[in-house]
Amino acid sequence: MIDQRLFFPATERNSRPIRELLQNHLPAYGTVLEIASGSGQHAVMFQKHFPNIIWQASDPNPLHRRSINAWISYERLGDVMPAPLDLDVDIEPWPFLSKGEQTISAIVCINLIHVCSWESAKALFKGAAKTLDSSCPLFLYGPFMRKGYHTSKSNEIFDKSLRLSNSLWGVRGIEELKKISKEEGFLKQIIYTMPSNNFSIIYYKN
Ligand SMILES: C[S@@+](CC[C@H](N)C(=O)[O-])C[C@H]1O[C@@H](n2cnc3c(N)ncnc32)[C@H](O)[C@@H]1O
Repeated sequence: MIDQRLFFPATERNSRPIRELLQNHLPAYGTVLEIASGSGQHAVMFQKHFPNIIWQASDPNPLHRRSINAWISYERLGDVMPAPLDLDVDIEPWPFLSKGEQTISAIVCINLIHVCSWESAKALFKGAAKTLDSSCPLFLYGPFMRKGYHTSKSNEIFDKSLRLSNSLWGVRGIEELKKISKEEGFLKQIIYTMPSNNFSIIYYKN
Protein backbone atom coordinates (compact mmCIF):
# COMPACT_ATOMS: atom_id res chain seq x y z
CA MET A 1 0.00 0.00 0.00
CA ILE A 2 1.23 3.53 -0.80
CA ASP A 3 2.34 5.51 2.25
CA GLN A 4 0.18 8.64 2.24
CA ARG A 5 1.98 10.37 5.09
CA LEU A 6 3.35 13.81 4.25
CA PHE A 7 6.50 15.11 5.97
CA PHE A 8 6.86 18.84 6.60
CA PRO A 9 10.45 19.54 7.78
CA ALA A 10 9.53 22.73 9.73
CA THR A 11 6.82 20.80 11.55
CA GLU A 12 9.37 18.28 12.75
CA ARG A 13 11.65 21.10 13.97
CA ASN A 14 9.10 23.19 15.86
CA SER A 15 7.17 20.31 17.46
CA ARG A 16 9.20 20.20 20.64
CA PRO A 17 9.14 23.88 21.67
CA ILE A 18 5.44 24.07 20.84
CA ARG A 19 4.71 20.93 22.82
CA GLU A 20 6.64 22.25 25.82
CA LEU A 21 4.58 25.43 25.82
CA LEU A 22 1.27 23.63 25.26
CA GLN A 23 2.03 21.51 28.30
CA ASN A 24 1.55 24.58 30.50
CA HIS A 25 -1.61 25.82 28.82
CA LEU A 26 -3.74 22.92 27.68
CA PRO A 27 -6.44 21.56 29.97
CA ALA A 28 -5.71 18.21 31.59
CA TYR A 29 -8.70 16.54 29.90
CA GLY A 30 -11.14 17.17 27.08
CA THR A 31 -11.00 17.62 23.33
CA VAL A 32 -8.47 19.91 21.67
CA LEU A 33 -9.36 21.08 18.19
CA GLU A 34 -6.38 21.62 15.92
CA ILE A 35 -7.12 23.88 12.96
CA ALA A 36 -4.99 23.60 9.79
CA SER A 37 -3.27 20.40 10.92
CA GLY A 38 -1.40 20.03 7.61
CA SER A 39 0.53 16.76 7.40
CA GLY A 40 -0.69 15.54 10.82
CA GLN A 41 2.81 15.23 12.27
CA HIS A 42 1.99 17.64 15.11
CA ALA A 43 -1.38 16.00 15.70
CA VAL A 44 -0.02 12.50 16.33
CA MET A 45 2.92 13.76 18.33
CA PHE A 46 0.69 15.83 20.60
CA GLN A 47 -1.84 13.01 20.92
CA LYS A 48 0.95 10.70 22.11
CA HIS A 49 2.28 13.31 24.51
CA PHE A 50 -1.10 14.26 26.00
CA PRO A 51 -2.84 10.88 26.37
CA ASN A 52 -5.69 12.26 28.53
CA ILE A 53 -6.71 14.66 25.81
CA ILE A 54 -8.56 13.79 22.60
CA TRP A 55 -6.70 15.48 19.74
CA GLN A 56 -9.17 16.43 17.01
CA ALA A 57 -7.19 17.34 13.89
CA SER A 58 -8.70 19.18 10.92
CA ASP A 59 -7.76 20.57 7.53
CA PRO A 60 -9.72 21.61 4.43
CA ASN A 61 -7.18 20.04 2.07
CA PRO A 62 -8.17 16.41 1.28
CA LEU A 63 -4.53 15.42 0.65
CA HIS A 64 -3.65 16.70 4.09
CA ARG A 65 -6.55 14.85 5.70
CA ARG A 66 -5.37 11.69 3.96
CA SER A 67 -1.91 12.27 5.40
CA ILE A 68 -3.34 12.87 8.89
CA ASN A 69 -5.29 9.60 8.66
CA ALA A 70 -2.15 7.82 7.47
CA TRP A 71 -0.16 9.20 10.42
CA ILE A 72 -2.92 8.11 12.82
CA SER A 73 -2.76 4.56 11.41
CA TYR A 74 1.05 4.51 11.33
CA GLU A 75 1.22 5.54 15.00
CA ARG A 76 -1.58 3.07 15.88
CA LEU A 77 -3.67 5.85 17.41
CA GLY A 78 -6.90 4.89 15.67
CA ASP A 79 -8.56 3.86 18.95
CA VAL A 80 -8.01 7.22 20.62
CA MET A 81 -7.83 9.80 17.86
CA PRO A 82 -10.81 10.75 15.73
CA ALA A 83 -10.45 11.14 11.96
CA PRO A 84 -9.61 14.70 10.87
CA LEU A 85 -12.46 17.09 10.22
CA ASP A 86 -12.92 18.94 6.94
CA LEU A 87 -12.78 22.36 8.59
CA ASP A 88 -12.20 25.55 6.61
CA VAL A 89 -12.30 28.53 8.96
CA ASP A 90 -14.20 30.51 6.31
CA ILE A 91 -17.07 28.05 6.07
CA GLU A 92 -19.73 28.34 8.74
CA PRO A 93 -20.83 26.55 10.76
CA TRP A 94 -17.69 24.66 11.69
CA PRO A 95 -18.50 20.92 11.37
CA PHE A 96 -18.92 19.92 15.01
CA LEU A 97 -20.83 23.12 15.82
CA SER A 98 -23.53 22.09 13.40
CA LYS A 99 -23.88 18.79 15.24
CA GLY A 100 -23.74 20.60 18.56
CA GLU A 101 -22.40 17.52 20.31
CA GLN A 102 -18.73 18.14 20.96
CA THR A 103 -17.28 20.38 23.64
CA ILE A 104 -13.90 21.83 22.73
CA SER A 105 -11.53 22.68 25.59
CA ALA A 106 -8.87 24.46 23.51
CA ILE A 107 -8.05 25.37 19.93
CA VAL A 108 -4.53 25.08 18.51
CA CYS A 109 -3.65 26.67 15.18
CA ILE A 110 -0.07 26.46 13.97
CA ASN A 111 1.27 28.32 10.94
CA LEU A 112 -2.03 29.27 9.35
CA ILE A 113 -2.32 33.03 9.84
CA HIS A 114 0.40 33.98 7.30
CA VAL A 115 -0.92 31.61 4.60
CA CYS A 116 -4.53 32.72 4.64
CA SER A 117 -6.34 35.98 3.93
CA TRP A 118 -7.05 38.63 6.55
CA GLU A 119 -10.72 37.65 6.22
CA SER A 120 -9.81 34.08 7.12
CA ALA A 121 -7.89 35.31 10.17
CA LYS A 122 -11.05 37.14 11.25
CA ALA A 123 -13.10 34.00 10.59
CA LEU A 124 -10.72 32.02 12.79
CA PHE A 125 -11.34 34.30 15.78
CA LYS A 126 -15.08 34.39 15.08
CA GLY A 127 -15.36 30.60 14.92
CA ALA A 128 -13.09 30.17 17.94
CA ALA A 129 -15.21 32.62 19.95
CA LYS A 130 -18.33 30.58 19.16
CA THR A 131 -16.56 27.34 20.06
CA LEU A 132 -14.69 28.13 23.27
CA ASP A 133 -15.92 28.88 26.78
CA SER A 134 -14.29 31.79 28.53
CA SER A 135 -11.59 29.79 30.33
CA CYS A 136 -10.55 27.86 27.20
CA PRO A 137 -7.46 29.00 25.26
CA LEU A 138 -6.95 29.72 21.57
CA PHE A 139 -3.29 29.03 20.78
CA LEU A 140 -1.62 30.49 17.68
CA TYR A 141 1.91 29.87 16.52
CA GLY A 142 3.86 31.33 13.63
CA PRO A 143 5.93 34.26 12.40
CA PHE A 144 4.41 37.63 13.35
CA MET A 145 5.35 41.30 13.11
CA ARG A 146 5.63 43.46 16.22
CA LYS A 147 4.62 47.11 16.26
CA GLY A 148 4.73 47.27 12.47
CA TYR A 149 8.18 45.72 12.10
CA HIS A 150 9.49 42.31 11.16
CA THR A 151 11.45 40.72 13.97
CA SER A 152 14.18 39.43 11.63
CA LYS A 153 15.53 39.86 8.11
CA SER A 154 14.54 36.28 7.30
CA ASN A 155 10.91 36.97 8.27
CA GLU A 156 10.92 40.05 6.04
CA ILE A 157 12.18 37.99 3.10
CA PHE A 158 9.66 35.26 3.90
CA ASP A 159 6.86 37.83 3.99
CA LYS A 160 7.83 39.16 0.55
CA SER A 161 7.88 35.65 -0.90
CA LEU A 162 4.46 34.88 0.62
CA ARG A 163 2.92 38.02 -0.85
CA LEU A 164 4.43 37.22 -4.24
CA SER A 165 2.94 33.73 -4.28
CA ASN A 166 -0.47 34.95 -3.05
CA SER A 167 -1.37 38.62 -2.64
CA LEU A 168 -3.78 37.76 0.20
CA TRP A 169 -1.09 36.11 2.33
CA GLY A 170 1.54 37.72 4.53
CA VAL A 171 3.12 37.83 7.96
CA ARG A 172 0.59 39.57 10.25
CA GLY A 173 1.14 41.96 13.12
CA ILE A 174 0.46 40.86 16.68
CA GLU A 175 -1.12 44.26 17.39
CA GLU A 176 -3.50 44.01 14.41
CA LEU A 177 -4.47 40.50 15.47
CA LYS A 178 -5.14 41.80 18.97
CA LYS A 179 -7.68 44.24 17.53
CA ILE A 180 -9.65 41.59 15.63
CA SER A 181 -9.41 39.08 18.48
CA LYS A 182 -10.83 41.70 20.88
CA GLU A 183 -13.74 42.30 18.53
CA GLU A 184 -14.63 38.63 19.00
CA GLY A 185 -14.30 38.82 22.78
CA PHE A 186 -10.74 37.57 23.36
CA LEU A 187 -9.74 40.22 25.87
CA LYS A 188 -6.55 38.65 27.18
CA GLN A 189 -3.45 37.54 25.29
CA ILE A 190 -0.13 36.07 26.38
CA ILE A 191 2.81 36.28 23.97
CA TYR A 192 5.80 33.93 24.00
CA THR A 193 8.96 34.33 21.94
CA MET A 194 9.75 31.03 20.24
CA PRO A 195 12.85 29.74 18.40
CA SER A 196 13.58 30.78 14.79
CA ASN A 197 11.85 34.18 15.06
CA ASN A 198 8.41 32.75 15.74
CA PHE A 199 5.88 33.55 18.43
CA SER A 200 3.13 31.78 20.26
CA ILE A 201 0.09 33.83 21.20
CA ILE A 202 -2.48 32.45 23.59
CA TYR A 203 -5.86 34.20 23.67
CA TYR A 204 -8.50 33.96 26.38
CA LYS A 205 -11.85 35.63 26.66
CA ASN A 206 -11.00 36.69 30.23
C1 LIG B 1 1.64 26.09 6.42
S1 LIG B 1 0.48 24.79 6.58
C2 LIG B 1 0.65 24.45 8.31
C3 LIG B 1 0.30 23.03 8.65
C4 LIG B 1 0.58 22.60 10.08
N1 LIG B 1 -0.20 23.32 11.04
C5 LIG B 1 2.04 22.74 10.38
O1 LIG B 1 2.44 23.65 11.11
O2 LIG B 1 2.79 21.93 9.86
C6 LIG B 1 -1.07 25.64 6.47
C7 LIG B 1 -2.28 24.73 6.52
O3 LIG B 1 -3.43 25.56 6.57
C8 LIG B 1 -4.47 24.93 5.86
N2 LIG B 1 -5.43 25.98 5.51
C9 LIG B 1 -5.33 26.89 4.51
N3 LIG B 1 -6.42 27.68 4.46
C10 LIG B 1 -7.23 27.27 5.48
C11 LIG B 1 -8.50 27.69 5.95
N4 LIG B 1 -9.17 28.68 5.35
N5 LIG B 1 -9.04 27.07 7.02
C12 LIG B 1 -8.37 26.06 7.64
N6 LIG B 1 -7.16 25.62 7.22
C13 LIG B 1 -6.59 26.21 6.16
C14 LIG B 1 -3.75 24.30 4.68
O4 LIG B 1 -4.52 23.28 4.09
C15 LIG B 1 -2.47 23.82 5.33
O5 LIG B 1 -2.58 22.49 5.75
